[in-house]
Parts: sequence; structure tokens; C-alpha cells
Amino acid sequence: MHPPPPSSFGIALIGAGAIGRMHAERCLRHPDVHLAAIADPTDAGRAFAAALGVPWYADHGELLTCEHVGAAIVATPNATHLPVGRDCIAHGVAVLVEKPIAGSLADGLALCEAAEAADVPLLVAHHRRHNPVQRRARELVASGVLGRPVAANAMATWLKPDGYFDLAWRRQPGGGPVLINLIHDIDQLRFMLGEIVEVQALTSNRVRGFEVEDTAAVALRFANGALGTLVVSDTVAAPWNWDLAAGEAAHYVQQPVDSMYICGTEGSLTLPSLTLWRYPGARGWHEELAAQRAQPHKADPYDEQLRHLRAVAQRREQPLCSGRDALGTLRVALAVLEAARTRQPITLLEGSV
Ligand SMILES: NC(=O)c1ccc[n+]([C@@H]2O[C@H](COP(=O)([O-])OP(=O)(O)OC[C@H]3O[C@@H](n4cnc5c(N)ncnc54)[C@H](O)[C@@H]3O)[C@@H](O)[C@H]2O)c1
Repeated sequence: MHPPPPSSFGIALIGAGAIGRMHAERCLRHPDVHLAAIADPTDAGRAFAAALGVPWYADHGELLTCEHVGAAIVATPNATHLPVGRDCIAHGVAVLVEKPIAGSLADGLALCEAAEAADVPLLVAHHRRHNPVQRRARELVASGVLGRPVAANAMATWLKPDGYFDLAWRRQPGGGPVLINLIHDIDQLRFMLGEIVEVQALTSNRVRGFEVEDTAAVALRFANGALGTLVVSDTVAAPWNWDLAAGEAAHYVQQPVDSMYICGTEGSLTLPSLTLWRYPGARGWHEELAAQRAQPHKADPYDEQLRHLRAVAQRREQPLCSGRDALGTLRVALAVLEAARTRQPITLLEGSV
């Protein structure tokens, strides 16, 4: 690897597992940042760093002491986000922590408070917010072109291969599709429609038979009065899922489908195709309803997230997904599991995080 130019922005990667490697790949090809070092205690982590020609540390604390970096990406298991993130903050290093912000609301809140007390930027990697399709959809909803938002639906249905479940934590509570996958859809809906104030849910493990859910059906009420439904299942032969529809990652075969629907009094929008449905003339179910495709520019959300990380660390931009904002998303995802467990609706107070 060629040495980076002195002006380049150095990033430490902490955790070189599945998503960490994707961050590393993006850092390597990004024009404005360079991968300064990797911390991961495993042999696989060391081999990965060696293959990239990047300094490797078993311990993230040693990395933070020895390397001068502009920001750190924390891509370790959820339960470690608080201790690892807090160490970065203690070194004055801006943190992009993977989603969910932490394994619990208490840990997430503690991380936010540590960042605020030290005045160190904290961002959460709800990367779909950086997708131009998602940004454009948010603008369209805010522009009023849909009229009053009334209903929304998101599907997260696809088939995880059996080998995915070789890791024990993916078969146990917390490792299921609600906290791993549906949390992204919840975050997208919050990003477009605002706070969620009520959650009802059912979960099932009937097909895979693991302790953790393989399927969930969810009903939401937004603070603006709109209602939403979500279906997630990782055990069905189906393409209706953002990851398959949006083509954000090359390891998924992109499918020509939509996975999210936003319905308003004046029009409706499907994502990721960004198809806008409206009545050109007379309104009503016997009248012609026209579909129009909005064309956003194409950009990789992970690349854009890196650009943003550098800008936030340098205090030129505010986090698109702050720690507190991500806490709101985690709170809804946890409420889905709680509502299913108790068979009771969960009321969430606005701004209570
Ligand atoms: N944004 C997304 O779309 C997305 C996708 C996948 C995972 N994630 C999130 O990323 C995080 C990691 O998930 P994953 O699937 O890559 O997990 P993984 O198990 O594949 O990788 C985690 C890595 O962290 C390392 N690690 C553990 N403790 C460490 C520590 N203290 N210091 C340094 N390294 C340590 C492990 O050795 C492992 O290599 C989770 O929070 C997950 O929810 C986000």
C-alpha cells in the first residue's frame, strides 16, 4: 500500500468482521480518507490487516494510544459498542458506531452522554439514510407532494442461508431479524415520517425453530397520525427487501422490486424505485392514476457515509444520524420485541430518549 498523503484523513477500524471489512474496502478506495489501522483480536483480523498492509492491533486501546487518527469506525458486536465507543471518546476520537447504537437503551444513552460530556462527535451507521434514494424520498414527503401521510408499509422478506446461523448468537434473542434487519426499515420510516409513538407486534419462530424470531408482523402509529405496517421474515423465498431491491451491496443480487410504500392523501411513493403515484385529473378509484419515476443520482451510501464522517469529525457537518436519533430507532425496535412478548401495545412518548 502507498503511504497516504499527509493531508488525508486517517480512520481506525475497530472490528474487522463482516461489516468491518466492507468499511475497510470503502476506506481504501475513498479519495478523502485512508485506513490508518485495524484493531481486532482474532487471527483473521490480523491476517486481514496484513493483507491490506495496514498496522494491526489486538487491542483497540493500544491502537488509540499509538495511532493519530481523525475518526474510528466501531464495527464490533453490539454489547461492546459502549465500552469501545467510550474509549474512542476518551481519546478525543470521533466515532461512527455501527447500528444498533448499543445492545440496550441504557448503554446507548451512556454512550451519548459520554460523547456530549467530552464534546466528541458521535454518529451511528444507519447507512441507508445516506442513500440518495432515501434522501430524495424524505424530501418528497417533506415537500407535501403526497399530501398528508396516512399509511406506510415496509417489507423485509428474504432467505438467509442456513450457514448464517452457524454463529450461536444469531440463534438467540437479540440476534434475530428485528434487531439486525428490521431496525433499518424502522429507521428509514422515522427518517421520512417522524417519531413512532405506538407499537403492536407478533413474532414467530415456527419455521426455523430457534429461540429467536424468524418472522415478525408489526403495526405502528406515528406522531403525525399516520399508521404503518412492517413484515420481516428471514426464512422465506421472497425478494421484497431493501437490501435486495436497492442494490447497495454487491454481494446481493439486485431485484427489480419495491420494498417500501408511503401513502398520502394526494399521492403515494414506492421505494427504492421512487415511483410517485398521483391523479393527473379527477380523483377517485375509477379515475386514472399516473405513475412517475423520480430519478435520483446514484451514489454508494457507504462511501457517502465516509465522506460525512470526515466532515462531522472536522465539525463541518452535523451528524445525519446522531446517537440520540439512533436511540429513538433502537427504542422502537426493542418495543417490537416487547410488544410481541407481552401481547400488549407499547406506547412510546415522543422525545423520551
Ligand atoms: N449497517 C449494516 O448494514 C450492518 C450490517 C451488518 C452488521 N452491522 C453491525 O455491525 C456490528 C458487527 O457486526 P458483524 O456482522 O460485522 O459481526 P462479526 O461478528 O462478523 O464481526 C465483529 C468483529 O469484531 C471483532 N471484535 C470483537 N470485540 C472486539 C474488540 N473489543 N475490539 C476489536 N474487535 C473486536 C470480532 O473479532 C469480529 O471480527 C454489529 O453491531 C452489527 O449490528 C451493521
